[in-house]
Amino acid sequence: MRDLGQSAFLRACRGEPVPHTPVWFMRQAGRSLPEYREVRGDVGMLESCLRPDLVFEITMQPVRRYGVDAAVLFSDIVLPLKAAGVDLDIKAGVGPVVAQPVRTAADVASLPPLDPTDVQPVADAVKGLVAELGERPLLGFAGAPFTLASYLVEGGPSRDHVHTKALMYGDEDTWHALAGRLAQIAATFLRVQVEAGATTVQLFDSWAGALSAADYERYVLPHSRTVLESVRAVADVPRIHFGVGTGELLGLMASAGADVVGVDWRVPLDEAVRRLPAGTSVQGNLDPATVFAPWAAVEERARDVLRRGKAAPGHVFNLGHGVLPETDPDVLARLVELVHTESAR
Ligand code: CP3
Repeated sequence: MRDLGQSAFLRACRGEPVPHTPVWFMRQAGRSLPEYREVRGDVGMLESCLRPDLVFEITMQPVRRYGVDAAVLFSDIVLPLKAAGVDLDIKAGVGPVVAQPVRTAADVASLPPLDPTDVQPVADAVKGLVAELGERPLLGFAGAPFTLASYLVEGGPSRDHVHTKALMYGDEDTWHALAGRLAQIAATFLRVQVEAGATTVQLFDSWAGALSAADYERYVLPHSRTVLESVRAVADVPRIHFGVGTGELLGLMASAGADVVGVDWRVPLDEAVRRLPAGTSVQGNLDPATVFAPWAAVEERARDVLRRGKAAPGHVFNLGHGVLPETDPDVLARLVELVHTESAR
């Protein structure tokens, strides 16, 4: 295995001492960057994720601009579904839209599995990126079974997840069959990335905060655990588990097999640490809206995040959710510099 022991990012994930607090941003690549809008042009979102040249360039853009401590693969959580043969697309300003929602046992039975060769362009892009990035880690990622299921069952983005919950509460066997298939797809997608050289993985369960702890534990946790365990079986890479509005689920999300738990801005990091098993590192958690306030407020709040993050064995600085499209990239550049200088004192 390559020796990446010197990376501040990997050290923080493992809870080892760091020269400075590492920082990257969820959605650091994307519409907030003019150079992204330029290279994407009118190439479709999912089409661009299957073009290794575009994936390489878009993944590198925020690394060059910000000097973040990790790159995150340019892709999408619904890409493996599309690559497996599900009829879906990403509509600008809306999100993933599925042609035929998956709601019955027959629908679930006809969901195609993912073959690693379906995402060969992703593996090719990862190999090129790892060679370019050298010591700087590359994060691979996948969507967790619940969040993927929500898009498939609802047919698109949803606030209340009513069809998903109706299936879960009303037909538990079909729910588990669906979540089990999605766990296999997510696990295959992550294994492809890790085998091609990705040095860390993040499992995005963005919408898990819609569930109570009891329902999360019964309907979701076993499937997310399958995904994280399957990564552990192929490589000793840090596993990050993230969701939004998941303050009540943090301990359970760690118990799914995470080395690092991502925290949104609703729970201060020192409080998150109290909710996590000893030894778990944290990632987060500046409110993504903060960067729209005057710099003095950004600075004060970022310092507070750094201070509270010291309660954890390891802290990876991030926003509490993705970079908003209207974000001024210059403020993010300044934030990276602040995190680095402030934490190196
Ligand atoms: O973090 C990164 O920089 C890596 C890239 C990344 C994208 N999607 C690129 C993208 C990552 C990690 C994702 C994951 C993802 N995709 C999640 C989980 C993370 C989260 O935000 O909670 C979710 C829920 C999705 C589904 C999805 N894809 C949504 C809701 C949207 C936004 C739709 C819109 O236009 O508002 C997308 C599209 C998407 N994924 C874009 C990018 C850069 C924008 C597409 C464009 O440029 O038109």
